[in-house]
Amino acid sequence: MATYDIASIAGDGIGPEVTREALRVLKAASEVYGFDYKLTEFPYGSEHYLATKEILPDAAFEEIKGMNAIFLGAIGDPRLPVGLIEYGIIAKCRFDLDLFVNLRPIQLYDERFCPLKDKTPADVDMVIVRENTEDAYTGMHGFAHKGQASEVATQTMVYTRFGTERVIRYAFELCRARNKRKTVTLIDKANAVRAQDLWTRTFEAVAKEYPDIKTEHAYIDAACMWMVKNPEWFDVAVTPNLFGDIITDLGAMVQGGMGIAASGNIHPGKVSLFEPIHGSAPKHAGKNIASPVAAILASSMMLDYIGQKEASKAVEDSIRDLLVSGEIKGVGTADHHTSEVGDMVVKAIQTPAKA
Ligand code: IPM
Ligand code: MG
Repeated sequence: MATYDIASIAGDGIGPEVTREALRVLKAASEVYGFDYKLTEFPYGSEHYLATKEILPDAAFEEIKGMNAIFLGAIGDPRLPVGLIEYGIIAKCRFDLDLFVNLRPIQLYDERFCPLKDKTPADVDMVIVRENTEDAYTGMHGFAHKGQASEVATQTMVYTRFGTERVIRYAFELCRARNKRKTVTLIDKANAVRAQDLWTRTFEAVAKEYPDIKTEHAYIDAACMWMVKNPEWFDVAVTPNLFGDIITDLGAMVQGGMGIAASGNIHPGKVSLFEPIHGSAPKHAGKNIASPVAAILASSMMLDYIGQKEASKAVEDSIRDLLVSGEIKGVGTADHHTSEVGDMVVKAIQTPAKA
């Protein structure tokens, strides 16, 4: 029986509640699909930091490095300085584990969740491959003359040929495997951010290795427009880190809201991290009202990643069926109790498929 080492960092705000349901679903899936795993739960996050001044200790980080996957609930707390815990946990994992792909599927499960007129699940079915280790996120910034009228602030957008090429290649491979519209779209802003000419040239070079895949290009501003006007034009899109961050929030709304969108921070073949895209939503924390759908879908992505394809599909199909049938009414805070949705998904997984 396959055994996996899985770390869980439930984190802040609604993180622990949605993680609890995602882990219940993981447990149910392991029982039905016959795989074993060892779960190590880590207490890191803002509350832990406030109590101990510890963010993500080296010893824990070393332990995590040797695992198969990490599940993360949510990070962020208004009581702490902006970015402290985000950089200390999420960005640390992304950079120091070299999780260079941020995989963000945008899939409309049912028409009633789409804010766009006349768009169906067939129209909203794409994957955004967001570069995850470079760009403005490398943290190379500074201030001069701080606090004075002459203050200057800078932040460097960093792109390497190596980093650009590997994520673009990942997008082409994914597109081939997905076998949908066989199109990879490069989203950049090379007309203004001239350094992104590196993306233009690298994309062109890698595309030559994939003659079976069509290529398209859109500047990020236009891509935002197309995402709303004609989401059906996208299959796989690859984009630098910062634009990927922004367009995937837009994508999350197109697929039905932050309560549905999941993501994987991936380095193929190495420990990778799975999380809902939503934040810690402190105002909803501890009330058992946040939807765990995005977290459960993140666990489905994690199952796929570790190789439990059948279990992964069962989890995603359960969510889809429950959304389509209306048993899950919605993913807003007024729709269900967090645990009620977990109950429904666990039950669906345990119920053998109807013949
Ligand atoms: C995301 C988040 C993070 C990001 C924040 C929390 C640093 O918005 O995962 O999309 O900007 O990458
Ligand atoms: Mg974001």
